[in-house]
Amino acid sequence: MKLLAIESSCDETSAAVIVDGVVVSNAVSSQIKLHQEYGGVVPELATREHLRNLPPVCREALACAGLEIGDMDAIAATQGPGLPAALMVGFKAAQAMAFVLRKPLIGIHHHEAHLYSPWIAGDPPRGEFEVFQPSVSLIVSGGHTMLVHVEKELTHRILGSTVDDAAGECFDKTAKLIGLPYPGGPEMDRLAVDGNPKAFRFPRPMLRDENDNFSFSGLKTSVRYFLRDSPEILEDGQRLRDLCASVQAAIVEVLVKKTVRAAVRVGAPCITASGGVACNSSLRRELAKACEKKGLKLRLADARLCTDNAAMIGILAERKLLAGCEPTSLDSESSPGLRMVA
Ligand code: KG4
Ligand code: ZN
Repeated sequence: MKLLAIESSCDETSAAVIVDGVVVSNAVSSQIKLHQEYGGVVPELATREHLRNLPPVCREALACAGLEIGDMDAIAATQGPGLPAALMVGFKAAQAMAFVLRKPLIGIHHHEAHLYSPWIAGDPPRGEFEVFQPSVSLIVSGGHTMLVHVEKELTHRILGSTVDDAAGECFDKTAKLIGLPYPGGPEMDRLAVDGNPKAFRFPRPMLRDENDNFSFSGLKTSVRYFLRDSPEILEDGQRLRDLCASVQAAIVEVLVKKTVRAAVRVGAPCITASGGVACNSSLRRELAKACEKKGLKLRLADARLCTDNAAMIGILAERKLLAGCEPTSLDSESSPGLRMVA
């Protein structure tokens, strides 16, 4: 089966070609530089960039695969959730292609695709579903932080999510307070390498709560008060690195402990993680340590597949088609409020 997949839910325009479970090409055009001067994603600019970039990105994905649009057996696209107008660019283009080609359209839930990106691996990357295991999946990015129990392929249940800011949002907002450029997560990660994570103590929000929800807005506020009382820290390179390491340690401890606790409670033998924050070196290391201690298997999405990409959309779309799921109607809407159903 040959499938063209499109992702345009936020600030990455991506197209991928999947052939029989193999990611033959995965073209990604990132808008990070465009949004940098505003300190966050500006929806109108993102939409305009998607409109500009989608045709060349689709052409690139097809050319890399050595295929033409007429060779495709199906078209897939992110249907939601995400920035409404940004989603519409990719989803409407996919609808038009499916209509013209008279091929099935598969609308994909963005978060559901993140659940399966840790199972894409190898060179070339392919869906390794023969080793798939029930898991608790941590989806952690700038827009979402959630724990999902994936009981078996295509069957999942949301255990909890953030009640306010996402973990990536917390990284980005605290980094902005520290004066680091957007997106702050990777910059904090880099500075934290040479910092002492125990130098300053920040709260571990909801760590002791008996549920699988997260809250990160209080942590950002405590960094704000901390800097109000000790602004001189920003002038001292080593103490600034200590601050980055201490903030990161607080975020990572909550994510790791709550994820492992959920996996043990539901009896899942495996933990997976994806989303931009799953690139974080400390999170990857601490998850590995905690899983080893508890005898759990760990599947982390490849760093290139943690952030938004069309490969994960295409791999999930193919699994859905093979499982006999109904194609998406050609007059359906791209919907930011789309519910993730088990
Ligand atoms: O998945 P993604 O590309 O986009 C969505 O938000 O959907 O994730 C972007 C987020 C940003 O908040 C960014 O700061 C964070 O992922 N991020 C990181 C790292 N790399 C990206 N956060 C911490 N450490 C990193 N290494
Ligand atoms: Zn995402």
